[in-house]
Amino acid sequence: MFNIANFVKACQGQPPSTIKELLEAALRDPESVTEALAAIGAGKNAGEGSMGDMVIHRAPDLTILKAAVPAKFKSPPHNHLMWAVIGVYDGQENNYFYRRSNDSLEAAGGKQLRPPDVLVLGEDAVHAIENPLERTSFAIHVYGGDLLSAPRRMWNPFTLQEEPFEYETARRYARQLIEQS
Ligand SMILES: [Fe+2]
Repeated sequence: MFNIANFVKACQGQPPSTIKELLEAALRDPESVTEALAAIGAGKNAGEGSMGDMVIHRAPDLTILKAAVPAKFKSPPHNHLMWAVIGVYDGQENNYFYRRSNDSLEAAGGKQLRPPDVLVLGEDAVHAIENPLERTSFAIHVYGGDLLSAPRRMWNPFTLQEEPFEYETARRYARQLIEQS
């Protein structure tokens, strides 16, 4: 059975390769993950709630989030400034990767994640996520730092101009991306 407290404890002080193994082990029983995380941010999702609503654990060296990604949601490209490990336990999360190019971005492939897929992103990764399904998808995102206070960057998805990451603007971009698709 997946247990939040045990998972958090197991992740503490570990490198992303170990976090990947821990997530892979947890995702062998996705129903138990769904059950254990059901109460966290219930009724909220990445498009409407604040990220803070879905924090499972927050420390200077480790952030664990429940990412409830609404149907058809698309994020603008953004960075994290720390490694990240993403494990999808219900639904699908498509990741699009980018390379910085002068002061813009270049597409650099992607990966479709479905349970029990786990993806590791390096410290300098720039990505955007999308839920292609008609229903909310759920993932655990683990970050090697305090994601919520990191001076992150994002890119206007229409002009690919870089700007500071700001939740309200990111949500506006997401709404515009959904309307446009
Ligand atoms: Fe991200």
